[in-house]
Amino acid sequence: MFDNFPLWPDRASTAAGNVDALFIFLLIVSGLMTLLIFTALVYFAARYRYRRGVLAEQIEGSTPLELTWSVIPFFVFMAIFVWGAAVFFKGRTPPRDSTEVYVVAKQWMWKLEHAEGQREINELHVPVGRDVKLIMTSQDVIHSFYIPAFRIKQDVLPGRYTVEWFRATKPGVYHLFCAEYCGTQHSGMVGDIVVQEQAQYEAWMNGGSTGPLSASGEKIFAELGCATCHRSDTHGRGPNLQGVFGKPVQLEDGRTVNADENYLRECILDPGAKRVKGFQPIMPTFQGLVSEEQVNALVAYIKSISAAKPGDGAKTSASAEVPQEKVQASGSQVQ
Ligand code: CUA
Repeated sequence: MFDNFPLWPDRASTAAGNVDALFIFLLIVSGLMTLLIFTALVYFAARYRYRRGVLAEQIEGSTPLELTWSVIPFFVFMAIFVWGAAVFFKGRTPPRDSTEVYVVAKQWMWKLEHAEGQREINELHVPVGRDVKLIMTSQDVIHSFYIPAFRIKQDVLPGRYTVEWFRATKPGVYHLFCAEYCGTQHSGMVGDIVVQEQAQYEAWMNGGSTGPLSASGEKIFAELGCATCHRSDTHGRGPNLQGVFGKPVQLEDGRTVNADENYLRECILDPGAKRVKGFQPIMPTFQGLVSEEQVNALVAYIKSISAAKPGDGAKTSASAEVPQEKVQASGSQVQ
């Protein structure tokens, strides 16, 4: 019956059922309240209407009644709060071993790059039943990455990463929309999410990859000369980057931050903002020198050299590869 008049978009992710259940609950509670209020309104209007010769009686309040209409709504609202928070935090927390896709939004298209190296425009291929984490940024204005069938929507901002994740449950092609007005062709900033069976997806993956994103990042890291200072031992002028990702970092100003994607990104584009304790402010900014895609590749590379190896707790392992560059390790100077 609803084929030509769908009330809901497809439910094609693990989040969809939870979001819908909460929404339906809110709808029912609102509906019941509306019904209750209007029934009482009509009933009281009739029951206590003006009658000739009958004097109005003054009512001085009723404690049991007031308690009832305070306590019941309190528990209803608390249920909405707890349930809503549970759905929210689940949606905000990508599972640890998610497949990662970097998204760069621009007026007016979506550029997507898989950690494995595939690039796509306005189209994203994902396997069914796997957690996918989207690490998103914008090249210009605010956009919003919205997949109705997955019940996820997240603003995509210039100058930082935002994250969302999903696990698709049904093969198919689903709409991708930009859900934040971003200029003339905002309405045309759409695309397709192609959910494939594992085998199909692998076949697609094997066609035309340029190598993993982290490998492009490693190349850029070498080309920009990052390795000159960020040596993989303790003698570099910059911090050793092996194993930093996901760890707390002590800053010169006494704060401690978590080395997540946003922190790495900020360090590349604004190195002075959160300088690591014990290092001089000698790193130049790479703002304007690297594209958003290159920043993504660099971040993917730094993450790849931080991937946990069992039994490898040492951050500054001296046995790490010795870089070929000839560096004057003692030449650090304050600018
Ligand atoms: Cu991008 Cu609207």
